[in-house]
Amino acid sequence: MTKTFCSSGNVIADRRAEYARMLAETGELGPAIELVEQALDIAPDWTAGWDLLGSYCEKAGEIARAISAWRHVEALDDQGVFAAGLKLAAHGAGQLSQGTAVSYVEALFDQYAPQFEQSLVGRLGYRVPEMLDALVRAEMVRLGIERFAATLDLGCGTGLMGERLRPRTAFLEGIDISAAMIAETARKGIYDQLQKGELVAALNARRAGADLVTAADVFIYCGALQPILSALVPALRPGGLAAFSLEAHDGPEAVFLRPSLRYAHGVEATRDALVVVGLEILRFEQAVLRFDRGAPVMGLLVVARRPPIELTAANDGEDGGDVAA
Ligand SMILES: C[S@@+](CC[C@H](N)C(=O)[O-])C[C@H]1O[C@@H](n2cnc3c(N)ncnc32)[C@H](O)[C@@H]1O
Repeated sequence: MTKTFCSSGNVIADRRAEYARMLAETGELGPAIELVEQALDIAPDWTAGWDLLGSYCEKAGEIARAISAWRHVEALDDQGVFAAGLKLAAHGAGQLSQGTAVSYVEALFDQYAPQFEQSLVGRLGYRVPEMLDALVRAEMVRLGIERFAATLDLGCGTGLMGERLRPRTAFLEGIDISAAMIAETARKGIYDQLQKGELVAALNARRAGADLVTAADVFIYCGALQPILSALVPALRPGGLAAFSLEAHDGPEAVFLRPSLRYAHGVEATRDALVVVGLEILRFEQAVLRFDRGAPVMGLLVVARRPPIELTAANDGEDGGDVAA
């Protein structure tokens, strides 16, 4: 996290921004915007100040002013911690870049880690790990899998999915982009191995090592599904399972960036993406993932399988049997 994230480096500008925050909290967005602008006259290179201005203008419905503020953020924030590119794209004012906005997601979860569970599970009714685990268990029974040999939990966070998976796997590995989330989960001692890393890069470095790969509430930060699945399939052993959740989108787009800066995935496009990468769909269910400002967030829970024996020119048409389970 950069210093600009909190302070302008100028006491007077900071004080004006503080008053602005207090006003914004009581809904007085007009005066709040004026005060942040005054702070920015004093500290024109204050990235967090421009970001604050953008968010107040957005809340006030002044989208053109918000876009202008985020353009300043974009120019000042080399690492992309403030996600100006995503904010611009969410308002149709910029191109979406491919994949996860790594610096933004890392900073977001580094900040969020200490209160993550209390906030998500306690206040927002988050139940994805429990629901995904129930689907995986049902498939284990149906396929006659007693235990997984090696599970890879992508975006493991503070380990809520890992806690569920632990009794069902001999080896449990977690990967997450946020060091603070990894530190929270390390304290619990659930995982055999933890790695700080970006999930597509981590998947690309593996070959047929896992018989279960999970991602609970993670791909909503990663954009298009196809590149993730294309990296995921080779990391699975033949016959191995992938279980993940997505926010569901009813429109025609395969992937849609929401004002929350989380991606929603088209239901039919998701089915197509699974088929294209050669995964068999075992479960494809709609569910309420959590609540956002009191409203249910609808999502998809997917369990899919890498076919036990993949069809090639040599064995096309022959009967296949399970080799992994
Ligand atoms: C909403 S949390 C969910 C954590 C956990 N799976 C759970 O269900 O509680 C999303 C997690 O995914 C991680 N994440 C998001 N995008 C990632 C990426 N591209 N590579 C690795 N981790 C990522 C975040 O750092 C965060 O810890």
